Amino acid sequence: MSLNRLYDDLAWLWPIWGDPEAEYRFYCDHVSALFHKYAKRNVHSVLNVGCGGGKNAFNLKREFDVTGLDISPEMLKLAKKLNPECRFVQADMRCFELGQCYDAILIDDAVAYMITEEDLRSVFRSAYRHLASGGVMITGPDDTTETFRQNSTEIFRSGLSLTPPGIEVTYIVNDYDPVPEDTWYESVMVFLIRENGKLRIEQDLHIIGLFPIERWRAILIDIGFEVNKAEYRDESNCYTQFVGVKK
Ligand SMILES: C[S@@+](CC[C@H](N)C(=O)[O-])C[C@H]1O[C@@H](n2cnc3c(N)ncnc32)[C@H](O)[C@@H]1O
Repeated sequence: MSLNRLYDDLAWLWPIWGDPEAEYRFYCDHVSALFHKYAKRNVHSVLNVGCGGGKNAFNLKREFDVTGLDISPEMLKLAKKLNPECRFVQADMRCFELGQCYDAILIDDAVAYMITEEDLRSVFRSAYRHLASGGVMITGPDDTTETFRQNSTEIFRSGLSLTPPGIEVTYIVNDYDPVPEDTWYESVMVFLIRENGKLRIEQDLHIIGLFPIERWRAILIDIGFEVNKAEYRDESNCYTQFVGVKK
């Protein structure tokens, strides 16, 4: 499997895309509240599957003993730099074996890279195996067949306080589904990188899974989870989340 450039040679763009404290703290407080609400055991150990640059870990580690798992060596380097006290493991989320169970598992934005139902099943099967009895897993889609907006474009700017002097980055993300009948769409990222005023343009095509919301629930129930639905709202969107409890 080849890695997206954002998680490989362009991974340095990730830390300056959003501040782990300002942009992830509120979300992680919400995740923590869901862990406590639904878990049928005390939550100490947390596995963050698809931990990327470790921005979730940065917030969750205040309360939990966090392990991060990701497929990308470059993202894992960033995660370790931000969270030297946490453990990080390189693995594919569809087939990992860590030899231990966790009280809670978070699989959030990275699960978007699962583009078939079999991929989703494999991820949730692996997570189920790594959950202690009474433990809880939070997951959910960024987009579903019902919420997807064809040819939508968003523009972001690198945070001033995060970016090295002389560098400015504009991130353009365009989502397009060439074949609405299948289970994935294209998310094209274009990066306008200005180093001391000199423009460089890089691009990266991400293939993202797209399923009806009820398929998520059905798959989780099939794997064996007791499934609860939750919601997370930011300034512009409302995301459906699933909270699966291992009986
Ligand atoms: C948007 S980033 C996650 C950022 C993360 N939420 C954070 O707190 O910084 C998505 C991550 O998914 C990872 N990923 C994609 N496919 C994967 C797979 N099959 N197994 C494990 N990680 C995967 C990528 O390497 C990337 O680091």
